[in-house]
Amino acid sequence: MRFVLLGLPGAGKGTQARVLCQQLLIPQIATGDTLREHVQEGTTLGIEARTYMDRGEYVPDALVVKMVEERLLEPDAVKGFVLDGFPRTVPQAEALDRALEAADAPLDVVIKFTISDSIAIQRIIGRFTCLTCKRTYHVEWSPPLDDALCDDDQTPLEKRTDEDELTVKRRLAIYRQQTAPLETFYAARGVLREVDAEASPAEVTARMMAALADVL
Ligand code: AP5
Repeated sequence: MRFVLLGLPGAGKGTQARVLCQQLLIPQIATGDTLREHVQEGTTLGIEARTYMDRGEYVPDALVVKMVEERLLEPDAVKGFVLDGFPRTVPQAEALDRALEAADAPLDVVIKFTISDSIAIQRIIGRFTCLTCKRTYHVEWSPPLDDALCDDDQTPLEKRTDEDELTVKRRLAIYRQQTAPLETFYAARGVLREVDAEASPAEVTARMMAALADVL
């Protein structure tokens, strides 16, 4: 099955994508994680992307579309995927349409996780990330067993460079301007399902699974 996850920064897309992928045995394609890997490795894409990411702005469509098109051609994506953080603009959604039409593999469901700005800000400011397995933690709501290490692989947890309050507010504004139109884009096709994400991670998973009950 092929899914797209939408929602404000901090809505829990990464957290829930992880659960859905483990359950359905399909890959999580998280453009933010892939771009951060490029930044860490110092690739040409990473060097260019970093200037946008650190400011909380979107990386240009052409760069991200090429990256995702290549990823979708990898063998593990044939049986399905969860796109977490892509598409984020109408041109990206149109490019995804073209790629999926060429593969005769349409999207099944677009899930939109709904939260308020204030919860989004609290979640991001309290987040720590494992740069090895990409698992996220929250200082208050999902703390690691050991204060500073990932439960799964013992990697020291880190803060991202786009998590200060000013940058988060800019990211929220950019989502409204550039990504919110995709909700109408996908609602018009009848594939959009909304999940109220202001609850514990386990409760949000239960709500997501209930919203997908007829397709899983
Ligand atoms: P990206 O990494 O995709 O960031 P984002 O979409 O802004 O989303 P986040 O990762 O901040 O949040 P999330 O919704 O995944 O929440 P999470 O599960 O971590 O993108 C970063 C940047 O890369 C962009 O700004 C842009 O520059 C660039 N980029 C990426 N894709 C691009 C594209 N397609 N085009 C152009 N540029 C692109 O949860 C957040 C926190 O809350 C965690 O601490 C978690 O533990 C906690 N939490 C989660 N769920 C709950 C819950 N239910 N209750 C309590 N706490 C919870």
